[in-house]
This record gives sequence, C-alpha cells and structure tokens, in this order.
Amino acid sequence: MLSLNFANVMDEVIGDKGLTEREIEDLRPRITDALKQIRDRKWEELAFLDLPEQDTEKIKDLAVKIKNDSENFLLLGIGGSALGPRAIVEALSPLHNLRKKPRIFIYDNVDPRTLSAILSVIDLKKTTVNVITKSGSTAETAASFMILWEEMEKLLGKDKAKRFIATTDPEKGNLREIVRRFQLDSLEIAPGVVGRYSVLSPVGLLTAEVIGVDSKELLKGARDVRERCLEEEVWKNPAMILASALYLLGTKSGRTIDVFIPYADGLKSFSEWFCQLWAESLGKLGLGLTPYPSVGTTDQHSQLQLWMEGPEDKVVIFLRVEDYGADMKIPLVFEDMEGLNYLSGHTLSELIKAEEEATELSLAKASRPNLTVHIPAIDPYHLGQIFMFFEIVTALVGFLFGINPFNQPGVEEGKNFTYGMMGKKGYEEKRKVVEEAREKKLCWTLR
Ligand code: PA5
Repeated sequence: MLSLNFANVMDEVIGDKGLTEREIEDLRPRITDALKQIRDRKWEELAFLDLPEQDTEKIKDLAVKIKNDSENFLLLGIGGSALGPRAIVEALSPLHNLRKKPRIFIYDNVDPRTLSAILSVIDLKKTTVNVITKSGSTAETAASFMILWEEMEKLLGKDKAKRFIATTDPEKGNLREIVRRFQLDSLEIAPGVVGRYSVLSPVGLLTAEVIGVDSKELLKGARDVRERCLEEEVWKNPAMILASALYLLGTKSGRTIDVFIPYADGLKSFSEWFCQLWAESLGKLGLGLTPYPSVGTTDQHSQLQLWMEGPEDKVVIFLRVEDYGADMKIPLVFEDMEGLNYLSGHTLSELIKAEEEATELSLAKASRPNLTVHIPAIDPYHLGQIFMFFEIVTALVGFLFGINPFNQPGVEEGKNFTYGMMGKKGYEEKRKVVEEAREKKLCWTLR
C-alpha cells in the first residue's frame, strides 16, 4: 500500500515556515466536509470512484483480438484521453516499441510532422486505431480520426471499419453516431467520468491489456487505496492530509506551485498526467495550485537550485519507489580513485534512493516544505493506487477551494476562436474577433 510521509511540512521539523498541528486541526471541519462529498458521491462526476467495480470482459476480449491481428496500436485522443494511457505504457512497459508487439503509438496533437512520421513507420493494414473522445467533438481528435479514416478507406474500402475501435460516451456525440452507422467496435466511458479522471475506465484499460497488463490489478490497487482514503479520521487518511497540507501551504504561505517529482523514469509520464489533473481541475475563479512536472534524479541537475534558493512559492511532492524490479551493481573499476570508488559496490537503486532522501533532507534543512508518497514498486497494483489516490486528493483540494474540480470552462473560449477560424457554422462572430485582434497585433511585430 502507498504511504505518505509529511514530516517535512510540519513546523516541528522545518521550523516556522511549516504547518502546525493546530492549523490542520482548524481545517478539520472543512476537509471532513470535503470527504463527505466524496463518500456521499455528491457530484455525478465522482463516478470515477466506482471504476474499480467495472466489468472488464469486453476490454479483455478486444485486447486479445488486437494482439492477434495487429502489429500496431494507434491511439488518437488528447488531454485525459491520452495522458493516462501514455502513463500506463511508460510505467509498465519501458521501451515498449523496441521490445514488444503490438507497438503503441499515442498521437495526442495535431502536429503534422508527428502524424506523418507515424504513418511512415506503420503498416495501416496491420494497425488497430483506437479513437478516444468522451465528447466526440474534440477538434484535434476529430481531425486525426478523419485522416486515418480516409487512409484506411483507400487501403481497405468498406473493411476499414474493422480497423477502428471507438472509446466514447455510451449514447451521445459524433463518435457514438459513427459507431452506430458503421458498426465499429466500441467501449463506453460512463457519463459521469470526466476525461482527466478516466484513466481507470476503458480509456486506460484497453491500452493496459494490449501491452499485456492485467487491468484487474490496476483496478484492485485503485479499490484498495480508495478504501484507505475514505477513512474519516484526518490524521489517519493520507489523501486528507496531503490535500490539507497543499491547500494550507498554498493559501496561507503563498506556496502555490506544487512540484511533482517521481524518482523513476517510468513515472515521468505519470508526472504529466498528474499535472493535467491538478491544473485543469483546480485552476478556476482566480484560485488554484500550479503543478510543475519533474523527474528525479535528472532534475536535481536542472531545477533543484531554484527550489532550494529561489522564491518561496513551492512545495515539492516526492514520489519514492522502494523496489525498482531491476538493479545493477556499480563495479570497482578505478580502484585508486577516491573520487569515484566510493560508488563501487553500491547499486543504482541504492544511489537513486540515497539521492531522493538527500534531496528531501536538504530542502527540509532549508525550510522548504516537501512531502513524500512512497510506493513499494512500479507495478499495475501500485500504479492503480497512485492514479486513484491523486484523483481523490485533487477532488478534495477542489472542494476545499469551493470550486468545481470537474469542469474546464476556461478552455472554451480558445476552442470557439479556433472554430471561427476553421469555418465552423455559428462561429462567424468569433472569426471576426480573431481578425480584428490580428490587425491590432501587427504594429507590435518586430521583423
Ligand atoms: O479532462 C478533460 O475533460 C479534458 O482534458 C478532456 O480529456 C480533453 O479535452 C479531451 O476531451 P474528449 O475526451 O472529449 O475528446
């Protein structure tokens, strides 16, 4: 089971820049109320909490089919429809495409270079395309889907439909309509499950099964941590403590930037997944906390100086792994060189863990608050735990701020301007606004 160490945010350890037990006690009624909203499923969007109980049979069947008839699995999606699947692949199957088939490609942008490059290395006849969009109307996903649809049509004619799977809302949206018209294989994202909370739905589980991961293990981990995080006593509940600490440090001490630093290359994409969850859920009404993705030890040689001596606006969240599932001994090859031979006889996992601990301590000694989430190993069970854990923490912090952690109204205006520029009916006014803005910008351009 994951655990949380929060010594390095407490005043007893880091001095008066830390939190007092009193401050956490004072927040008790509000964090208890936040937890109650979760326990009582006060919001429809808390449906992600029930994903561990879903039936995975259809997902498993489709994965078997894909593994039997495809050399490549191409996922089209963006935001919550892509970051979770990518985090799963990178955590659980390092260097996947060099070692295994089907190779996995996740196209989550509209950069033409990337799609051209992907299409140049895959044989579409041996490719399954999984289009993931909850709404069925996201421009980026729609664009790449239409390109793939036409490419498959050229190659396979009517049979093209057999090469697609649609993962979308059970009833609504353009993609569901296409499923009906062309009898595509499809998976459902339950109506209450919002994109960035959807990794444990078919959005992430199909990819997991395709790379050979038992999705039930992910769900088991998620279920176990959910039970742990429904505990009502604040001091015994790691999600309530983490949410309270980050909220208090953000609102009372101006530490509004949360650095997320797993000490494992395989969790770099998890760090990006967390950042989307945190940013899109919490940044509203002038409130919120800013996520900052990172990876240890690499960023010790890039970012740590700023965290140690820069503005006092950050909290560092370490993600520590106990067992890397692999290790290598550092040999004694330069016996007479003291500057190097102190490493000999130790292992790489000893070194990475020592560096993690040393960084925690040096930040604490400089009175820079930090916390550590420990996981025993990077395996499906514990990955499921950290997905669910951070989703619950995010919802709790959102409720503490008094905002809706499940919507993203701030991204709509940009979408509307794009629709205007791309000629979507009903958005003519938006196009005019863009054109006027372009005029104004001209005199400020340096050439
Ligand atoms: O969290 C969210 O809801 C968003 O980030 C969505 O995942 C993203 O915008 C993609 O949406 P959709 O799955 O509808 O294409």
